[in-house]
Amino acid sequence: MRFTLSIIALSQALALWSQSAYTVISNPGAKASEEININFHTDLGSGPSTISYAPAGADWDKAKIAKAKSHLCEAYDSMYSKRANGENFYEDARFMRNVVNLKGLKPDTRYKYRINADTLTRYFNTAPDDGHFTAAIISDFHCYPPLPKRQQAAMAMLDTLRSINGEDFDMIIHLGDVCAWGGSYSFWKQLYEEPYFKNYAWAGVNGNHDDMDRTGTKNSNQFFKNANASPLNGYKGQEGVCYYFKYGNTLFITLNNEAMRSDEGLAEAKAWVEKVLKKEKAKYVVVMEHYQWFYGQNGKDGQYPRWRDVFDKYGVDLALGGNNHRYASTHPLLSGKVVQPGQGTVYIQTPSSDNERGESIGDIEYNADLIKTRWAEGPQTVGAMIMQVTPEAMTLTLYDRNGEQIDRNVIPCRR
Ligand SMILES: [Fe+2]
Repeated sequence: MRFTLSIIALSQALALWSQSAYTVISNPGAKASEEININFHTDLGSGPSTISYAPAGADWDKAKIAKAKSHLCEAYDSMYSKRANGENFYEDARFMRNVVNLKGLKPDTRYKYRINADTLTRYFNTAPDDGHFTAAIISDFHCYPPLPKRQQAAMAMLDTLRSINGEDFDMIIHLGDVCAWGGSYSFWKQLYEEPYFKNYAWAGVNGNHDDMDRTGTKNSNQFFKNANASPLNGYKGQEGVCYYFKYGNTLFITLNNEAMRSDEGLAEAKAWVEKVLKKEKAKYVVVMEHYQWFYGQNGKDGQYPRWRDVFDKYGVDLALGGNNHRYASTHPLLSGKVVQPGQGTVYIQTPSSDNERGESIGDIEYNADLIKTRWAEGPQTVGAMIMQVTPEAMTLTLYDRNGEQIDRNVIPCRR
């Protein structure tokens, strides 16, 4: 009898254990003041998953329960990879991917949530709906378990931004290359253990590194897609990778550069962006991609000439990128010329933030009239931005690791 009971207890404990969630992230939903998506993974055979959620200050007995939609994920299975100790291995990565779409949430509210029987509490904020919000913006930290200091440098940079901000961000935006190889599942899993992933909603962009495996032969947007639950409102083949969401008074549109390498791919992305811009009205419009608008080393054209026609036509206020590992910001631009603030698009790309894969800046040889500021610290670059939005203006400020302000861009509201 005692033996039978202990077997039952053991199997129950195992069931709870196997329901443990990992690689957990919350992402803004399409209407982020009332929708949040949560993505997490569980072991095969661990059964249906649920989350309990409530405003952060409420008792757990007031929590609501939401069921996850689950499917088998094999996107990262058997990829050639590297362990933290430097050992080469093939990743065994078959698991259940679970997605919860929370709707009907209260705006401007910090929520807590727990997954299955986990006792760990995680948090996200819904978007404020009063026209004010603050976001941290970071990119290019290339999480790589054998070199943990990369990730540490980026997280320390977020600490710096948080202390400058004086209060929590409403969300964190990343502009890509959060993983050295997105095909290496263990990299995402390790990264998402960071407190910033447990305590904030993240809106991300697929970077070329997030899209690649170690061998560079198996590129796929499924690595990014299955590690996030971004809104599924992108165009065919890019659902959950390219997406848009309203964050209070601001429309964010996210692009995938890997799908825009050819002219046909670019045309398809542009057609989708135009469709979104015709339909969705907002006070501010922000477009995000991974690749640089201008090369920070000498000012040469990057993605700018490929997109300026659409951004000019629809009055995109801010274009965000990364990838170059050098910061660059422009004056407001319209028709290839500098215009008054509030009349054009400001193009900004974030620097790297891993203290390791940075680059240096040379003399400006191109577009000297368009580019306002360039910045990098050489191979050991760490920098990131705070975005503050009010009904009057968006302000984007670049800081270095010590919290020194490097650049500030104020974009007045034009709508
Ligand atoms: Fe990068």
